[in-house]
Amino acid sequence: MDRVGKGVASGKIILMGEHAVVYGKPAIALPFTQASIETKVQKTNEKTLIECIYFSGPLEEAPVVISGIKNLINNTLNFLNEENFGLSISINSNLPAQRGLGSSAAVSVSIVRALFDVFNRDISDESLMELVGYAERIHHINPSGLDVNVIAAGQPVLFKRGTDPVPLKVAMDAVLVIADTGSMGQTREAVTNVSDLFQSNPDEIKSALEKLEELTLATLVHLENNDVENLGATMSMAQEILTKFKVSNEVLDLFIIESIKAGALGAKITGSGMGGCMIALCSDKQSADKVMSALDKAGAKAVWTLDMKDVTL
Ligand code: MEV
Repeated sequence: MDRVGKGVASGKIILMGEHAVVYGKPAIALPFTQASIETKVQKTNEKTLIECIYFSGPLEEAPVVISGIKNLINNTLNFLNEENFGLSISINSNLPAQRGLGSSAAVSVSIVRALFDVFNRDISDESLMELVGYAERIHHINPSGLDVNVIAAGQPVLFKRGTDPVPLKVAMDAVLVIADTGSMGQTREAVTNVSDLFQSNPDEIKSALEKLEELTLATLVHLENNDVENLGATMSMAQEILTKFKVSNEVLDLFIIESIKAGALGAKITGSGMGGCMIALCSDKQSADKVMSALDKAGAKAVWTLDMKDVTL
């Protein structure tokens, strides 16, 4: 029986610096290993077939919604010089799509890894970035590259556009609660909103971006000093700015208020916003449990925790 190529990728959480990272400011992101995407590929003598949540059938008939994936598969086969096979490709995911958890980058990383694996070829970080970066540019207009970099690295990173990600050691005595509003985040619209604000009010937005940069740099210090209280406060300060960028919404605001009332030390959106997920920092597991039940009551569709002691692999 033919080899089954496998590729796995988990999601990501942006701790600090979303949107600012599009403008060349630093951001900090963590791997979100609670959910992942697995792609399996087998060679066949038939037409290439794909099975995923959006479509099941011949790749050549795939709808627009997966045109990025279709292009990614064709580009990767072209890169591998392996265009003469039919393939059977199946993608399984428990990472909710379009929630700011990096599902589009994760799906791409898992596909490229699986295609390299089925042809028994090693993949360099550089080739992975190049292939996946192209697909991300189809998904959203001006991606910073943060999602792809943290997902490919599978560990916490400090990232600045156009530079290699710097791996971070995160070992903090705290628990991060992540809650899904259940509504789709809208990366394209959110990035466009910020860009429109920038065009109409460059001075104000420039100084807000500088403030976000300061908060990201302060986060590095708080992580290093295991300073949970100040990290929480820093997250809430970032949320104030993100609210001015109009990338929060009523449900995210409600979840943030409820988590703080329940004892979180700070809370903010994570990812592009306008839907998707929020994160709340808690001092320990007991506090996280209270925050989780408050978020449940407030209507969260799913709630996860990330022990900040165990983030670095
Ligand atoms: C999306 O996960 C993060 C944003 O900063 C966009 C990007 O970095 O490309 C909103």
